[in-house]
Amino acid sequence: MQKPNPIDEEIKLDPKRYIVSETDAKGKITYANDYFMEVSGYTQEELIGQPHSIVRHPDMPKVVFKLLWETLKKGKNINAVVKNLAKDGRYYWIFTEFEIRRDTDTGEIIGYHASRKTISKHVIEIIAELYKELLAIEKSEGVDASEKYLIAFLKEKGDDVNFANIMEEIHRFY
Ligand SMILES: Cc1cc2nc3c(=O)[nH]c(=O)nc-3n(C[C@H](O)[C@H](O)[C@H](O)COP(=O)(O)O)c2cc1C
Repeated sequence: MQKPNPIDEEIKLDPKRYIVSETDAKGKITYANDYFMEVSGYTQEELIGQPHSIVRHPDMPKVVFKLLWETLKKGKNINAVVKNLAKDGRYYWIFTEFEIRRDTDTGEIIGYHASRKTISKHVIEIIAELYKELLAIEKSEGVDASEKYLIAFLKEKGDDVNFANIMEEIHRFY
């Protein structure tokens, strides 16, 4: 499917509703709730079986997804602020809680679950600035360089700070 051209128009989200989806172990969408479809503009048929990159916005740095997948593959849940692209080219910023789904008998990872909600304008401004910097570094020097920049940025905030807990912190603070 052709990716839509992004337009500079934000979708206003209902702070009381969550955008929820689930995937299999490979990251293919197996479930999307009504609000996911309403906001993204895609139908259930268009979403099921697709990877979530169907809503990937070109303003998102690769390093965020690299860290996301590395963390999930290690068996740890993670939160992240994400900018998504709707089918009509508009965008929406969300705070996303990614969770691993395990087989209750074997403990094996059988898929993932994501629950997304609105965040304050203030958080969006801080994160948008950081992501812009990371994206610019990726374009000129690649993803290893943007990861180094991000690690240095986090180190400046404190010794134990990593991507996962800065996202928690940001969310709690603002
Ligand atoms: C449960 C789950 C939900 C996800 N939700 C999103 C999402 O809303 N937006 C997004 O861009 N990527 C999301 N991803 C990450 C995508 O799998 C993918 O890594 C990302 O879109 C970058 O695409 P790429 O890996 O093809 O570059 C999600 C992953 C999982 C496991």
